[in-house]
Amino acid sequence: MCGIIGYVGAKSANDILIAGLERLEYRGYDSAGIAVTHDNLISINKSEGRVHNLKTKKLDGTRGIGHTRWATHGSPSDRNAHPFTCNENKFVVVHNGIIENYLELRSGLIHAGISCTSDTDSEVIVHLISQAYNGNLKDAVCKVIKHLQGSYALCVMHKDTHELIGARNGSPLLIGLGNEENFLASDASAIIDHTKDVIYMNDFQVAEISKDYVKVFDFDGIEQQHEIKKIDWNLEQAQKGGYTHFMLKEIFEQPAVAQESLNVNFILAKDFSRIIIVACGTASYAGLVGKYVLEKVAKIPVVNEIASEFRYKECLISERDLVIAISQSGETADTLAAVRLAHQKGARTLGLINVVDSTIAREVDSVVYTRAGPEIGVASTKAFISQLITLYKLAFHFTDNEMNHSIVDKIAETLQLSDSIRKLAEQYYECQNFLYIGRNLSFPLALEGALKLKEISYIHAEAYPAGELKHGPIALVCTEMPTIAICPQDTVYEKTYSNIEEVKARKGRVITIATEGDERIKNVSNNVIYVPKVNNILYPFVIAVVLQLFAYHVADLRDCDVDKPRNLAKSVTVE
Ligand code: M6R
Repeated sequence: MCGIIGYVGAKSANDILIAGLERLEYRGYDSAGIAVTHDNLISINKSEGRVHNLKTKKLDGTRGIGHTRWATHGSPSDRNAHPFTCNENKFVVVHNGIIENYLELRSGLIHAGISCTSDTDSEVIVHLISQAYNGNLKDAVCKVIKHLQGSYALCVMHKDTHELIGARNGSPLLIGLGNEENFLASDASAIIDHTKDVIYMNDFQVAEISKDYVKVFDFDGIEQQHEIKKIDWNLEQAQKGGYTHFMLKEIFEQPAVAQESLNVNFILAKDFSRIIIVACGTASYAGLVGKYVLEKVAKIPVVNEIASEFRYKECLISERDLVIAISQSGETADTLAAVRLAHQKGARTLGLINVVDSTIAREVDSVVYTRAGPEIGVASTKAFISQLITLYKLAFHFTDNEMNHSIVDKIAETLQLSDSIRKLAEQYYECQNFLYIGRNLSFPLALEGALKLKEISYIHAEAYPAGELKHGPIALVCTEMPTIAICPQDTVYEKTYSNIEEVKARKGRVITIATEGDERIKNVSNNVIYVPKVNNILYPFVIAVVLQLFAYHVADLRDCDVDKPRNLAKSVTVE
C-alpha cells in the first residue's frame, strides 16, 4: 500500500512526480504529496485526498520525491500526508510500509527534544536520519534502517546534495534508468513513459541515484551487482483507451487476456502428494475454482488456504506438498509470508503471478506468469480470468487432454450482454443487500460476484453455497434482499434449481444466471441472464464476466468511484 516515487535529472521534477503518482494511486489515495529541491531549499506540496489536488501549485526543481498514501497509522489528513521533513527542513522522506517499533523510536526522539508533527509511524525515519547524518546521506540511511522493524520502501532526499537514496525491506521498490535522469518507484507504471530499463531492488538493499549514476548497496553500505531488466509492456496498456473506467476496459480485454493466458505452459512432474493453494481476495476465489478443477480433472487433492490465516495457524505441510501462491500483484504481504513459511517447512512453491519480477515471483521456486497485462482497476477482473485459465492449464497438464480454446469466443460473446446487464442493474442498484448463491464450481463464483459488488458499490453482499441456505441464511430472504442465483446447466443444475425454488417460496426476488435456452428456469426467476452454453467445467469463465458487469453497472449507477473504491488499495503490501 502507498506508492512512492523519486526523480533526479534535468526536467521539472514536479510534473514527473505528479504524473507518476497518478499512476500509483491504485496503491492508495488517502493523501498525496511531493517534495522538490531548488536553490538548496526543499519545498513541499501535500494534502489529504487525491493526487490531482497537488496540481494547483508548481514546485521548481529537478530533484524530488513523492507519495500517495493508504492510511495505516493516523487518519487520512494533511498533517499525516507524506513527505515528512526534519525540524531543520534539511531532509525529506517518503515511506511505504509499516514501522512496527515506531512508538519506541518516537519516545527516543522525544527524549532528545525532537517532536513529531504527525500521527504516522513514518515520520520518525526522517528525524532519525537527521540525527545520524554525518556528511553522507547513504551512510545515514544505512545506519537508521538497522533500527527499523517492519516493512519499508523509502525515498530520502537532502536539500543540498545531488542524489536520492532508496531503501527496501519488504515493500517493493525499483530503479528506473533514463538518459541523464534516474528514478525510484514502487512499480514500473509510475515511470513507464520515461524508461523501460529497470533494476528491481531486493530486500535489504539501498540505492543511491543521481542524474548520472545508479549504485546499489547492501545494508552495510557494500556496493552490489545489479541486473537491468526490460519492462515488456507499454504506456497504452496502462491507460483507459476510451473506456470510462479501467475496470470496464479490463473486463472487455478478457477475450484477449484469455487467449494470451492459454499460451502458458508448465514443466512440472506430479511428484507431490497434494497441492496447497495460498492467496487472498479474488486470487483466493480463483484458487477455489482451481481446487474443483484440479481434483476433478487431475485427481490431485487440493487444500485452499487464505494466506492471512495460513501464516498464523499450525502449519502442517511438508516437503511432499506443492504450495501454489496465486497473486496478481505478486506483492501481497500475506501471500508472500505464506510462501516464506512454506519454504521454512521444506515444501516446494510455485507462483501463479501476473506482475513480472514482483517479489513473490522472485521468491517462489518456480513461477508461471498469468499474462493478464497491467491491471489498474482496484477490483480484479482480467487477472481473475487469467488465474482461472492458468489453473485449468495446470490441471490439464497432468492429463492427456488439452484445454478447450473455444472459451475465448464464449467470453467475447458474453461481453455482448453488457447493455442488457446495465438495464437489469437499473432495476436493482438501489438495493442495500444481495445474496449470491451457487453450488460446486459456481460457489467460488458466488463469492467472487459478492466481493466485486461490495468492494465497488458498497452494497452488502453475502455468498453461500446454495445448499447451505436452509442452514441459516434463508432467514434473510425477503423482497428487499434480491438473490443472484448461479445455475448453469451443469451436474448440479437440479439441486440448485430446488434451492432457487426455496428462495422463491419465501417471496425472494431472484436474478438467475442460466444457460441459454433454459426456459424452465424462468419459472423460479424474476430475471434471467443467459450465458452461452459451454462444457460443464468451463462455466466459471462466462459467469465471471456477467458478475463483473453486474457489479460494474450497479456501482456506476450509484456514482461510485469504480476504479478507486473507498478504503481500498490495489496492492496490499501490509499485513
Ligand atoms: O495482488 P493479489 O492478487 O495478491 O491481490 C489479492 C487481493 O488483494 C485482491 O484480489 C483484492 O481482493 C481485489 N480488490 C479484489 O477485486
